[in-house]
Amino acid sequence: MKTPISSIAILLMAVSCSTQLGKSPVEKVVGEMTLDEKVRTVVGTFTDVATPPPVAPGVQNRADYPGAGENTARTYNQVPGAAGDGYPVARLGIPAIVYADGPAGLRIDPRREGEQATYFCTAFPSASLLSASWDPALVERVGAAIGDEVLRYGVDILLAPGMNLQRNPLTGRNFEYYSEDPLLSGLTAAAYVNGVQSQGVGTSVKHFAANNQELYRNGINEIISDRALRELYLRGFEIVVKKAQPWTVMSSYNKINGTYASENNWLLSDVLRDEWGYEGFVMTDWFGADDPVLQMEAGNDLLMPGTPNQIDELSEAVASGKLPVEVLDRNVARILRVLEKAPRVRGYAYKNDPDLSAHAVISREAATEGMVLLHNNGVLPLRESKSVALFGNYAYDTQPGGSGSGYVNRAYKITLDKGLEAAGFKLDKALADSYRKHIAFEKSQMPEEYFWVVPTASEYKVSTSQIAASSKSDIAVITLGRMSGEGGDRSATEGDYLLSAQEKLLLKDVYKTFHGQGKPVVVVFNIGAPVDLSGVEAFADAILLAWLPGQEAGYAITDILTGAVNPSGKLPVTLAGRYEDVPSARNFGLSAGEINTVRYEEELMVGYRYFSTSGVKPLYPFGYGLSYTSFEYSDFLVDGDVLQVTVKNTGSCAGRETVQFYVAKPAIESGRPARELCAFAKTSSLEPGCTETLRVPLADTVNPLEQWADGRWVLAHGPYRFWAAASSEDLRLSCEVNM
Ligand code: GLC
Repeated sequence: MKTPISSIAILLMAVSCSTQLGKSPVEKVVGEMTLDEKVRTVVGTFTDVATPPPVAPGVQNRADYPGAGENTARTYNQVPGAAGDGYPVARLGIPAIVYADGPAGLRIDPRREGEQATYFCTAFPSASLLSASWDPALVERVGAAIGDEVLRYGVDILLAPGMNLQRNPLTGRNFEYYSEDPLLSGLTAAAYVNGVQSQGVGTSVKHFAANNQELYRNGINEIISDRALRELYLRGFEIVVKKAQPWTVMSSYNKINGTYASENNWLLSDVLRDEWGYEGFVMTDWFGADDPVLQMEAGNDLLMPGTPNQIDELSEAVASGKLPVEVLDRNVARILRVLEKAPRVRGYAYKNDPDLSAHAVISREAATEGMVLLHNNGVLPLRESKSVALFGNYAYDTQPGGSGSGYVNRAYKITLDKGLEAAGFKLDKALADSYRKHIAFEKSQMPEEYFWVVPTASEYKVSTSQIAASSKSDIAVITLGRMSGEGGDRSATEGDYLLSAQEKLLLKDVYKTFHGQGKPVVVVFNIGAPVDLSGVEAFADAILLAWLPGQEAGYAITDILTGAVNPSGKLPVTLAGRYEDVPSARNFGLSAGEINTVRYEEELMVGYRYFSTSGVKPLYPFGYGLSYTSFEYSDFLVDGDVLQVTVKNTGSCAGRETVQFYVAKPAIESGRPARELCAFAKTSSLEPGCTETLRVPLADTVNPLEQWADGRWVLAHGPYRFWAAASSEDLRLSCEVNM
């Protein structure tokens, strides 16, 4: 008797319903998927934009394609403002996974049509400030708080951390990246990933690899030597992959030695998976690169945010045999093995209920831990001052973070004027009113701030009479700032990397007036990446680098100025001073005479690796940062693969000290830097007179004593000189070991 079709269908359904992601082996789930479902699983479900124009050599940034910069709706739009969704196959228990930015906190729309509820997230300090804390335990706590908001707002994978090396101070996204050093970058990123993923949600370490500029980022071809790639541009990613196993990796837009990162089999399969043992999946950056078949074969498992054309192209490629279905199955299985862990697959019922006030406390504490005191003649911490003449737009319009995908829709931001007032300082009213009125008026003429564009007013032109009138205050505080963001680099011009003539005049006039009355001047920098601070010390009794310190900015800066918190941050990047002194200055953006090509001719000479070798003096060196107390180092020794040193607080107030360990390796090939960071550790808070002995393992995840030579990692024989240092230029103790 013929079995009516419907019961076969029901039988099939019954059979297939028994196969569920998260309950059945992934191979079984893949085996039950149709070809169309497999193709759609490796492509995101964004449908609002046609395939962006192909990238031709020399093309400008593709950020002008429709859909970039706006928060266009997504197919499923389960969490409005999220960056993209995965493809659901309900009958197999595969939900539409939600992906959202970003490194300084979750970015989703703060309001939804027809709803009273709000969906604000906590704006934490930007990445550069976190690495300036040199405190992975703190970074892990920040990661956990961000991961909690990701989970509770119904997002599965956070598109963070950004961790490209800060090769040049003008890179537009430096604020989103950690350091010029791969060890500090990698260990900071690993702490962040462990923190976020401890909440049961995923991360996406980005942008793999060498996305070190924004100019022509979608098409630029970077010529980088094998050694520079391995020791600088890949090393940080190697550390985070081995130490934290991020659920996903986001490949970068750019080409490396002629091949797009997302189409690069050597990068995504040979190195990332075969050498480093990576177990997650790789997604493209949004609309990254061109050839979906090459991307699939290279091991770029997911094309985000996905376009209809990619589905067509892949379907045809499989049908024609151009793309073996085994490759498709491999990539689908990689995606599903990660999705098995996702909250949506685990049936987590999110309630949009993160504890934002508790996270605000963490954001404020983290902000104070990464601020760097660059100069202080004793005026800080403020003791007697009660009244403040507050200068500079950024004091009244303090910037918590940068623009672009790394922006956070926070409920509020605490500007420095509010932070000082909350601590009981009386601001010069006339001056404050002038700044506030100027900023409010100019902003009223500008577009509403949103993630892609953060408008800032022109610097208010304060007059010498206003300065004189405000000099009855006990102290002057000047805040200078810079915004930066995704999609564009900065320039070595006045008002950007260089201070403007107006800013210099402000510093000079305020200093002259206040010092004329024996009153101090404090300068605060609210910036996401280096500016040329040459000459500022001549007009400042103290200089504080506050970075982009998150939504609690004003409170955190005030905590440092008043000494409520003793500054312990140290520079994760060299402040060179003159841009001409920056080794990559000659090859940034484009190399001379080249189309769409930049040559990393400086090789390993990036940041302190260059300055410590060339003898050119930086203004403020990598690893530098002052405290309100002082520290002495003693008993430095290398005990096997453990570095040990004792730190004593020789000052008058409690504080924390970051000790950096540098090594001079016996060079296998020429061009070896004079010294390289091989470990670091931060003491706990030491009371005056107290000591702490730090014991730091050398080979934390990777062996920093290795050199890349002849296509492999080599531990050279010979003398290794180690230093225990307070900065890359302040070498306190040293010893030599023969390996
Ligand atoms: C952007 C950025 C990337 C971000 C993604 C989603 O172009 O390069 O960092 O995560 O698209 O917004």
